[in-house]
Amino acid sequence: MPAWEEEAVSVRKFLLLPGLIRASVRLRRQGARGWEQFWSGVRRTGPGGEVLWDVAERTELDWCQAQADQHFDPALPVVDLGCGNGRFTRLLAARFPVVVGVDMSASAIRLADIESAGQPRVSYRVLDVADPDAMRTLADEIGPVNVFIRGVLHITPPDKRVNIAEGIAALAGDSGRVLLVETAFEGDPLAYLEYVGGGHGRIPALVRPLVGAGIPPPRRFARPELDRTFPADSWPRLDSGTIEMGVIDQDGQRPFLPIPGFFAVLRHVAAGDNESGNPPGR
Ligand SMILES: C[S@@+](CC[C@H](N)C(=O)[O-])C[C@H]1O[C@@H](n2cnc3c(N)ncnc32)[C@H](O)[C@@H]1O
Repeated sequence: MPAWEEEAVSVRKFLLLPGLIRASVRLRRQGARGWEQFWSGVRRTGPGGEVLWDVAERTELDWCQAQADQHFDPALPVVDLGCGNGRFTRLLAARFPVVVGVDMSASAIRLADIESAGQPRVSYRVLDVADPDAMRTLADEIGPVNVFIRGVLHITPPDKRVNIAEGIAALAGDSGRVLLVETAFEGDPLAYLEYVGGGHGRIPALVRPLVGAGIPPPRRFARPELDRTFPADSWPRLDSGTIEMGVIDQDGQRPFLPIPGFFAVLRHVAAGDNESGNPPGR
């Protein structure tokens, strides 16, 4: 990169940094309330709306549907963890008889309920997916289930990811399958901000409410994070790889802005049960 360009990049980063520092202070103060603050301010979802990742991009929706068709037992319910306004929960309800979306934000669940009016297969509840006891209670009620999780692990700190994995194990039992889809953007949070529209040192409009609510910047969730969170000996891989995800293009130039993503399809085996000689998988 030419020197002037490098300098321009560091100036832009310098301008973006104070906003991010304020956000991380807020995050420490607010903890879980951040997501509720964000969702309580959302007035419009979908393309052209206020939720960066809710771009309703058809290729990704169809791909998720096809993966679920291929791997999920259609007789089992599906639980969508961290469902937000329920875009993917509704999608899965087209094929599965019972689909439950859960989110820690009551305002997200209110929106999801409104947007799912008239869809009897879908229901929602407020639940912290990093609370293994709450996940076990849900498992006792409706398990075993297939689990869908999109865009949650990459904004969850590593210690909490382990709690989420513990809860997913309880939900899936030995017959449920897990489809996870996460962003795997290469680069630090500043590079991400710039990529999604943070030119001229400004925090992009759709990111501002997230920063203001103290939501942590997205981290990369790809194979190394998968291996740490879901060790292959107890989580055999049925499939995994890269996928293109989308967010709203804030310049309005394109229907969506592509973001590199990572997916995995897993099943769970309890300790001592993986003695079949089957390899842990991809
Ligand atoms: C980036 S959004 C993704 C929403 C949805 N899965 C989608 O792809 O459209 C992350 C969602 O996870 C929720 N969330 C984050 N941590 C959570 C937790 N510990 N328990 C439940 N929900 C959580 C947030 O409230 C937010 O709705």
